[in-house]
Amino acid sequence: MRVLVAAAAAVIAFPLAAQAAGEVNIYSSRHYDTDERLYSDFEEATGITVNRIEDKANVLIERIKAEGENSPADILLTVDAGRLYQADQDGLFQPLSSDELEDRIPENLRHPDGHWFGFSTRARAIFYDKAKVDPADIQTYASLADPKLKGMVCTRTSSNIYMLSLMAAVLEHKGEEDAKAWAEGLWANRARDPEGGDTDQLRAIASGQCAIAVANTYYFARALSKDVRDLANPDDTDRIGVVFPDQDGNGTHVNISGGGVVANAPNRDNAIAFLEYLATDAAQKYFADGNNEYPVVDDIEASSAVESLGEFEADDLPLVKLGENQAAAQKVYNEVGYQ
Ligand SMILES: [Fe+2]
Repeated sequence: MRVLVAAAAAVIAFPLAAQAAGEVNIYSSRHYDTDERLYSDFEEATGITVNRIEDKANVLIERIKAEGENSPADILLTVDAGRLYQADQDGLFQPLSSDELEDRIPENLRHPDGHWFGFSTRARAIFYDKAKVDPADIQTYASLADPKLKGMVCTRTSSNIYMLSLMAAVLEHKGEEDAKAWAEGLWANRARDPEGGDTDQLRAIASGQCAIAVANTYYFARALSKDVRDLANPDDTDRIGVVFPDQDGNGTHVNISGGGVVANAPNRDNAIAFLEYLATDAAQKYFADGNNEYPVVDDIEASSAVESLGEFEADDLPLVKLGENQAAAQKVYNEVGYQ
C-alpha cells in the first residue's frame, strides 16, 4: 500500500510522459537563448526531460573526468574538433553508429567511429580594413605571410585552439617546412603581440590598430547583429571587409560546434535520440542560429547576418586531422617563437 502511495506522488511531481521516457543529462559549453527552444522542442516531442549543466569546455571536461564511471553526463557539447579530439583522447566519448547521423552529417565533420559529431560549422576567415587593404592581396592564408603585409596582421596567441586547428590544417595540406615558413612570416607581419579573443581582433581593426585579422565568422556575424559592444557601431562594421581564403585551393578552414555520447552515459538511448534530434531540419536552424554558425545539413539556411557574409567553398579536410596534428601545430609555432 505504501508503495502505491509513493508511486502516485511521483506521478504528480513529474509529467507522465517525462517519467516514462526518462531524462538526458547534457554538459554544454553553449549558452545561447535560442538553445532554450531547442531543448523545449525536444522535450515536447519525446517526453524526455533535458537536464543541463553549462560551463566552460575545460571545466566540463575536467568534471566528467573527475566524476569517472559515476558521471551522470550523457552528452558533452562543445566547440572545435581539436578540443573534441582531446576529450576523446582522454576517453570521454563512446562510439556510436547511427544511420540518421551518418546520412545527414558530412563524413569529414564527424569522428570516423561516431565518438563525436559536428552539428554546425564556422569558418576562420580573414577580415580587413577596407581603407587600408586591397582584398586581392589576402586571398589565401599563405598570403598573410607575405612581407608586403608587414606590421598589418593581428591574430590570437598560438596556444589558442582556433590557431592550433588552423595550423593543423596548414600542416596537413602543405607539410612541415611550408607550415613553419608560414608561421615565421605571419609572426613577422604582426601589428602587435597577440592579445584577446577573436572579437578583440575585429575591434582592433575598427580602432585602426590592425589592418588585417583572422577570426571566426560568427564573431563578425554577431557584430552585424549588433550583439557585440564596441563593434555595434555600423561605421565599425562597415569599415571591415571579409575574405574567405583559399577559394582556388583547399577552401576556407572550417571547424565545428559538436558533441558526442559520454563513455559511461547512464541514459545512452536518450542521448542518441538527442543527437539525432540535433540533426533534424528544425533543430539545425536553432542550433546554428544560436551562435550565428552554418548548419551542417544541406538546404538549411543560415541566419541573415551569416548569409550576408557571402558564399564560400569550405575545406573538406576530415576534422579528426585537426586533432591529430594539434601537438605538431604547437611545435611549429613554438619553433618560430610565435607567442
Ligand atoms: Fe569562439
